Amino acid sequence: MTLRLDGRVAVITGAGAGLGRQHALLLAKQGAKIVVNDLGGSVNGVGGDHAAADKVVAEIKAMGGEAVPNYDSVTSAEGGANIIKTAVDAFGKVDILVANAGILRDKSFAKVELSDFEAVFNVHYWGTVHTARAAWKLMNEQQYGRMIFTTSVAGTSGNFGQTAYGSAKEGMLGLMRVLAIEGRKNNVLINAISPGALTRMTDNLGMDDDFMKKLDPGLVSPAVAWLASERCDVTANVITAAAGGFGRVHYFETRGVQFDYTKPVTVEMFDEAFARIADLTTADPTTAGTEGKMQERLDTLGK
Ligand code: NAI
Repeated sequence: MTLRLDGRVAVITGAGAGLGRQHALLLAKQGAKIVVNDLGGSVNGVGGDHAAADKVVAEIKAMGGEAVPNYDSVTSAEGGANIIKTAVDAFGKVDILVANAGILRDKSFAKVELSDFEAVFNVHYWGTVHTARAAWKLMNEQQYGRMIFTTSVAGTSGNFGQTAYGSAKEGMLGLMRVLAIEGRKNNVLINAISPGALTRMTDNLGMDDDFMKKLDPGLVSPAVAWLASERCDVTANVITAAAGGFGRVHYFETRGVQFDYTKPVTVEMFDEAFARIADLTTADPTTAGTEGKMQERLDTLGK
């Protein structure tokens, strides 16, 4: 089991700038051959320019690595298929997918247009689906794959003005958890990072300058390189990464209460028990592919 990525082929979406560029440079340094995908549009997803992907390909080649550009948008099934085809055509396979491409259209729910909502979902949620779907069969057939999705604290914790962005980012974690169950038997592991980094996306959000200076995007990439390696043996993990600090986000469920289901359960009973139902000090991590604590609670009946 190695941390090196020699012989591996990695596709990184949105790799022409910010976090994706840093992931591409580090994965190349670790020995992977890289498809640098980038549409080259603006932060809010308008326009396109080949220069973004071309520049990062040139940087990788200058340090002795192998890379090819791809300029497709992740927002269509054809785009997703072509991004993965670029890897197969250039390098014969795909081992790693880093779904990183992103845009922002921040507005409060009262003001957000459906077109903004759709644009954000098309890049973050559907862009992850389209690229993962195109790589899925290949990775399962070769019995090796590492996918790293890019979520956000806006999804896992919520953030004002980011209804579209937050729900797309949380939606992809549902996708990750189910794919993790379906891919595990074939050594196809799906994890996510929740980054914090100073990039063009976060540069104008009015956050404290001293705080933002600590958020070098290169400090996020070691987590991605580890999750992309053979050494990674976890799936459905969400890893936070910012300013050289790393952690893990997970759902927990409380012990809760169990009433006798053969008798009426009233609103008053729920009301009386609510403090115990919601008491996080009794919570345990949820486990994939189970019904949660349902059976455990039923087992307490009659004890
Ligand atoms: P960025 O704006 O510097 O980079 C995003 C890249 O994605 C750009 O190069 C852009 O051209 C590309 N892109 C956008 N739409 C595309 C499409 N349809 N097809 C292909 N490429 C496309 O932003 P940053 O900060 O590097 O963001 C990278 C990812 O990290 C995004 O998914 C973002 O939501 C996520 N993220 C970033 C955080 C931060 O603190 N910077 C915090 C949480 C999540």
